[in-house]
Amino acid sequence: MTIQDTELLYLPADLKPELLPHHVAVIMDGNGRWAKRQGLPRFMGHKRGVDALKDLLRCCKDWGIKALTAYAFSTENWKRPQEEVDFLMSLFQGVLRQELREMVEENVQIQFVGNLPALPQTLQDEISRSMEETKDNRSIKFTVATNYGGRQEILQACRAIAHKVEQGILKPDDICEEVFESHLYTAGISDPDLLIRTSGEMRLSNFLLWQMAYGEIYITDTLWPDFDRNEFHRALYAYQQRERRFGKV
Ligand code: FPP
Repeated sequence: MTIQDTELLYLPADLKPELLPHHVAVIMDGNGRWAKRQGLPRFMGHKRGVDALKDLLRCCKDWGIKALTAYAFSTENWKRPQEEVDFLMSLFQGVLRQELREMVEENVQIQFVGNLPALPQTLQDEISRSMEETKDNRSIKFTVATNYGGRQEILQACRAIAHKVEQGILKPDDICEEVFESHLYTAGISDPDLLIRTSGEMRLSNFLLWQMAYGEIYITDTLWPDFDRNEFHRALYAYQQRERRFGKV
């Protein structure tokens, strides 16, 4: 953060605290393009992406937003070159190890959602440790979607419910939205009010398909490593100009 940004330590005056989103989700796109534009290898884009995410988490805390969810690795991202996949896995693990102490001190609750058993065992261990050590923290709920796919999430919920019906634990007529949601990876996490996607792409890319039924979407051309508090301010300002009707008139 630069000196001129210090005023952004506090909620900017043109934002209304009562109209802030409770839960913000981010698709952190454009790390590779950012690196290419700087003449750097792609992995440098991901490293800078971590810095941008850390500052956004701190900003959400500073401005009173209670939940942040970040799309770190999709089920489709395994198709990237092996070198990049390996780099991302060790980056997640390294960041968790380095940042856990600070997250504990700052009262951040970290959670991971996705097909976690398919991740490298060492990363799974780090994930379990960080979730366990922060489970009682309440200043902000920080959810990291890792090996996450919205369609896969819906399918695994259907399978789990079907098994319960087969075993007589549930009856078909018991299956309502609440029961369905309780079988999603995101059970217990509120739906996002605002989804921000960087780098100008206008897609959900298999992210939170069920949960985004009524969420607002904000897209910026800014590449993820350049997404800073000023950009977040702009996204929140745009969000506060919208009228959310949830299907009503
Ligand atoms: C998309 O940019 C970004 C990713 C696939 C990785 C995002 C991960 C991080 C920023 C690290 C988060 C770390 C933790 C611990 C949560 P891209 O590579 O698709 O960019 P491009 O479209 O320009 O190629």
